Amino acid sequence: MTYITKQQVLDSALYRCAIRDYDPAKKISEEDFNVILELARLSPSSVGSEPWKFLVVQNPELREKLKPVSWGMKSQLDNASHLVFLLAHKNMRWDTDFFRNKLQSYGLSGERLESKLEHYRNFQQNDIEILESERTLFDWASKQTYIALGNMMNGAAMLGIDSCPIEGMNYKGVTDILVEAGLFDPTEYGVSVAVTFGYRSEKPLPAKSRKKMEDLMIWAE
Ligand SMILES: Cc1cc2nc3c(=O)[nH]c(=O)nc-3n(C[C@H](O)[C@H](O)[C@H](O)COP(=O)(O)O)c2cc1C
Repeated sequence: MTYITKQQVLDSALYRCAIRDYDPAKKISEEDFNVILELARLSPSSVGSEPWKFLVVQNPELREKLKPVSWGMKSQLDNASHLVFLLAHKNMRWDTDFFRNKLQSYGLSGERLESKLEHYRNFQQNDIEILESERTLFDWASKQTYIALGNMMNGAAMLGIDSCPIEGMNYKGVTDILVEAGLFDPTEYGVSVAVTFGYRSEKPLPAKSRKKMEDLMIWAE
């Protein structure tokens, strides 16, 4: 099933670049932004965990408050059409209700359910070793949110919408502000990464710089 050409796929990857100067006059339509959110929702995640929430911050006062703790998006806080924080779940352990309920929703019960949970335990403990600390568990969920991040940005580029991923912030400072505003429960979720969306201003952009393909690839043939 081919919807767009190979050249269109490559063109949109070349079009996408981290935009720091948005045109403040241009706002993304609700219809287009809903597509970007849908791309986040439809993203894959390890064992189908969907360990995320997407927090959209449009309130100007709240954006102003974030400036002192968000050095990586200071100018964007005024001009970006949309700002999204990707929140990651803090406790995606195999023995939480989440996994049990998920397996039950697949129709599993009794021994089959317990054996599947045991498989998850083994996977988390011995294979990807994420049960070592709260941090490793959070980082596992956080990794999944970066898949949604990529899908949102690439999909936005296909719609001619610009974006900039954001790690340039003091995570504690940002969390305190968002939690004080009552936007999420910090015992359940943490800030993973943010992303701004909008339309680029007329300012010229630097040429795209990337490593050469031959410096990146390792083939086992
Ligand atoms: C996870 C992540 C976090 C980033 N954080 C910031 C940021 O806080 N502020 C910023 O201006 N750019 C940020 N960037 C943008 C990168 O600097 C940019 O993607 C990189 O230099 C490559 O350029 P390009 O995206 O224009 O191709 C981030 C990129 C990624 C992937």
